[in-house]
Amino acid sequence: MLKIAIVMGSTRPGRNCEAVSKWAYGIAQQRKDADFELVDIAKFALPLLDEPMPASSGQYSHAHTRTWSAKIATFDGYVFVTPEYNHSTSAALKNAIDFLHQEWANKAAGFIGYGSNLGARAVEHLRLVMASLQVATVTAQVGLSMFTDFEHFSVFKPVAAQEQHVTRMLDQVIAWSGALSVLRSKRD
Ligand SMILES: Cc1cc2nc3c(=O)[nH]c(=O)nc-3n(C[C@H](O)[C@H](O)[C@H](O)COP(=O)(O)O)c2cc1C
Repeated sequence: MLKIAIVMGSTRPGRNCEAVSKWAYGIAQQRKDADFELVDIAKFALPLLDEPMPASSGQYSHAHTRTWSAKIATFDGYVFVTPEYNHSTSAALKNAIDFLHQEWANKAAGFIGYGSNLGARAVEHLRLVMASLQVATVTAQVGLSMFTDFEHFSVFKPVAAQEQHVTRMLDQVIAWSGALSVLRSKRD
């Protein structure tokens, strides 16, 4: 069975990310074509990148990097749940991505963005980052508005249509995660 991580992209106390990620996880869990796991980067307590060697070398000197690597390596694909901070993704998520390299490669990724402009600019930046890591990003994405999917910018109440957007994005992530297994098995 394919394993897909739902990666929580905010570590901020009081983050909206938690409600958004749990909502997406609830929708995903109704499926029978993949297994899903919530991955909370806050729980990995990663410092700002402190590895002396580039991640592409695979030489990790810190236990926190090895723990993060072991978790991320187990998945066939990812759904990144990203806030928009200053027209980009969060520094915490970018830092967590930068810690690793080969663990991400030849896998698929989809995105759930949220913010005043649906998190669209955060997702566009993440797509560029993914290209550098040989991650195939799917077209369907979920954009949640602080104005219409949240009350008072803090209580998550997505409009009904958003569930279909999650399903379309997951359909594509699962299809491409499966298709790319050919490349992953060659590497292994
Ligand atoms: C540092 C910071 C910068 C932000 N910049 C933007 C922005 O450029 N565009 C936007 O739509 N929302 C922006 N926001 C609003 C966030 O998208 C919104 O507060 C969201 O809930 C943050 O995610 P989180 O609660 O999971 O941390 C910003 C919020 C913060 C904290």
